Amino acid sequence: MNKTNSDQIQLSIPNKPEYVSVARLTVTAIANRMGFDIEGIEDIKVAIAEACTNAITHGKNENDNFSVNFIMDEEKLTITVCDHGMGCIVNNIKKPDFNHLNQEKEGGLGIFIIRSLMDDVQITSNHGIGTTITMTKYMGDGY
Ligand SMILES: Nc1ncnc2c1ncn2[C@@H]1O[C@H](COP(=O)(O)OP(=O)(O)OP(=O)(O)O)[C@@H](O)[C@H]1O
Ligand SMILES: [Mg+2]
Repeated sequence: MNKTNSDQIQLSIPNKPEYVSVARLTVTAIANRMGFDIEGIEDIKVAIAEACTNAITHGKNENDNFSVNFIMDEEKLTITVCDHGMGCIVNNIKKPDFNHLNQEKEGGLGIFIIRSLMDDVQITSNHGIGTTITMTKYMGDGY
């Protein structure tokens, strides 16, 4: 890995649940190579699986692909998951209400889990164009 430049890897993945494991396996190899500890790698694997599942579930087009981009820096891994789905209103994504989880199906847990496990999470979405989630995990303690 170069000290000044980031290294990048890009995947284009079919909008099908059976391919989520490809993203999980790829990020495992990348994070392991970067030197993340087991706990960090597990966090990243769960986060990327939730982001890919959202791209597939809310993307709504089986014949399309979504993209996953990995940017490896000295001190952090940034992952972007970008789909061409219907998009959503990001401000309407609320934290789950843990008192009424069973009664209210709406809300979901994926984004909440991603925000809990990753250090920085940004979501942008455009109606009819798609959604991009960018999530960063720093290496080591102190972040
Ligand atoms: N890639 C996406 N495209 C369009 N809408 C999205 C996308 N990701 C998230 N959303 C919207 O944000 C909501 C919350 O996402 P989240 O992953 O937290 O929950 P969920 O997918 O509904 O359920 P769960 O992940 O718990 O199975 C979704 O219901 C959806 O409306
Ligand atoms: Mg979800």
